[in-house]
Amino acid sequence: MTDASRLIPVITIDGPSASGKGTVAALVAQALGFHYLDSGALYRVTALAARDAGISLEDETSLSELAANLDLAFRDGECYLDGRSVGDRIRSEAAGGDASRIAALPALRAALLARQRAFRQSPGLVTDGRDMGTVVFPGAQVKVYLTASVEERARRRYNQLIEKGLPANLDDLLMDLRQRDARDASRATAPMRQAADAHALDTTGLTVGQAMDAVLGWYAQANAKTVTE
Ligand code: DC
Repeated sequence: MTDASRLIPVITIDGPSASGKGTVAALVAQALGFHYLDSGALYRVTALAARDAGISLEDETSLSELAANLDLAFRDGECYLDGRSVGDRIRSEAAGGDASRIAALPALRAALLARQRAFRQSPGLVTDGRDMGTVVFPGAQVKVYLTASVEERARRRYNQLIEKGLPANLDDLLMDLRQRDARDASRATAPMRQAADAHALDTTGLTVGQAMDAVLGWYAQANAKTVTE
C-alpha cells in the first residue's frame, strides 16, 4: 500500500450471508460518492470460472492461478467475466455455496488480496465481505459488523428469490445459511469474525434506511474525531 492510498477513506462492512450488508454497503457508497467493492463476488466469480474450466473446487494451486489471472470488471453494479455479464450466474445459492468452499483455501485468498486492495481509490471505498475489516483493510476508518438473526436472513433471501420468480424453500435456505455461517466462521484463514474495533449492527427489525443511517453516522463521527485530533 502506498502512503497516498493510506489516506483514502475505507468503510468495511462484514457479516454473515444474507445479512443485508451488500445492500447497505452499496447505498452508503452511493450516498458518499465512494467506490463499492462486493468482495464476495470475487469468490463467486472464481468458483464459476473454475466450474466452467473444469477445475476441481479442491485444487488450491489451479484455483489460485485462475483467481490471479481472471479478466474481471465491475460496471454499474454488474459483474463481467471475460467481457460477459455473469450477474445471474453468480447470485444463485449454489454459487454462494461454491464460493464459501473455495474461500477456505489460503492460497486462493492470498491471490485475491491485491485485487481487493486495488479498489481503494479516491474519493473513498465502501466494501463488504467477511474479512474486510480484519485482513484486507485493517486500517479502515470505519468498520461495521452487520448481522441479523438466521431466521430473518432466510426470510429476506426467500423473499428475494420469490420476487425474482425463482423457486425457494424456507427450510432449505435456513439449513444452507447455517452451513455457510459455520464454514465461513470456522475456517483457519481469515475466518468471518467481528474486528475488535468494529461497530456491531444487528439489522433484525431495522429498515435498510436505518442501517444505512447508522453507518453514515459512524463515518461522520470518525471524520469529526480526525478533524479535532
Ligand atoms: O458475501 P457473499 O455471500 O457473496 O460471499 C460468498 C462467499 O464468499 C461466502 O460464503 C464466503 C466467501 N467470502 C469470503 O470468504 N470473504 C469475503 N471477504 C467475501 C466472501
